Amino acid sequence: MEKSGLSAYRMQLLEGLTGSVVEIGAGNGLNFAHYPAGVTSVRAVEPDPYLRIIALKNAGEAPVPVEVVDGLSGSLPGADGEFDAAVVSLVLCSVDQAGALREIRRVLKPAGQLRFLEHVRAPSSGMRWVQRVLDATIWPRLAGGCHMGRDTVGAMQGAGFKIERIDEFVFPLTQVPSPASSCVIGVARPA
Ligand SMILES: C[S@@+](CC[C@H](N)C(=O)[O-])C[C@H]1O[C@@H](n2cnc3c(N)ncnc32)[C@H](O)[C@@H]1O
Repeated sequence: MEKSGLSAYRMQLLEGLTGSVVEIGAGNGLNFAHYPAGVTSVRAVEPDPYLRIIALKNAGEAPVPVEVVDGLSGSLPGADGEFDAAVVSLVLCSVDQAGALREIRRVLKPAGQLRFLEHVRAPSSGMRWVQRVLDATIWPRLAGGCHMGRDTVGAMQGAGFKIERIDEFVFPLTQVPSPASSCVIGVARPA
């Protein structure tokens, strides 16, 4: 996924960020290498102990200071209004969205920003049907709680974020369309 273009989207996700950042569900830390120099600190929250070990190694090689901590999206380790930015990539498909977005709003400064890179509900009704069937049956059990057909943009708006910039794209580009390939990348701010 990284070699077929995901790392370029990670770069776009983080481009121009400055100040303090909280990254939610950081996984093994594949975003870390792409934080720009204007970022003064990253608190990377990851509940999985195995992934945290790999993330710690990647944090040591990151171009900016990255602290890897245990935690959950529904109760973020951070004070009210602590961060200039929050980052989510491929996370809002699996966590409780309302709880995560409420917490992100809490820890963001009023003028802060949420950077997102997520796979979401497909535009076509046929593919949405496929997503609904998979989400209701095997997919979340096979893929760590992931859902294919979530209206993540609607959830951000419902949680009080205004979408400032958004690009919709298909990734990965395959000959046979995949139900998990409708993606969005962009910036949202507390409304
Ligand atoms: C598909 S991975 C994405 C990892 C990383 N953000 C990336 O872009 O490569 C989803 C991550 O969310 C984490 N996660 C799952 N439930 C979570 C929760 N409630 N709070 C925070 N992170 C969670 C998982 O452990 C996993 O690392």
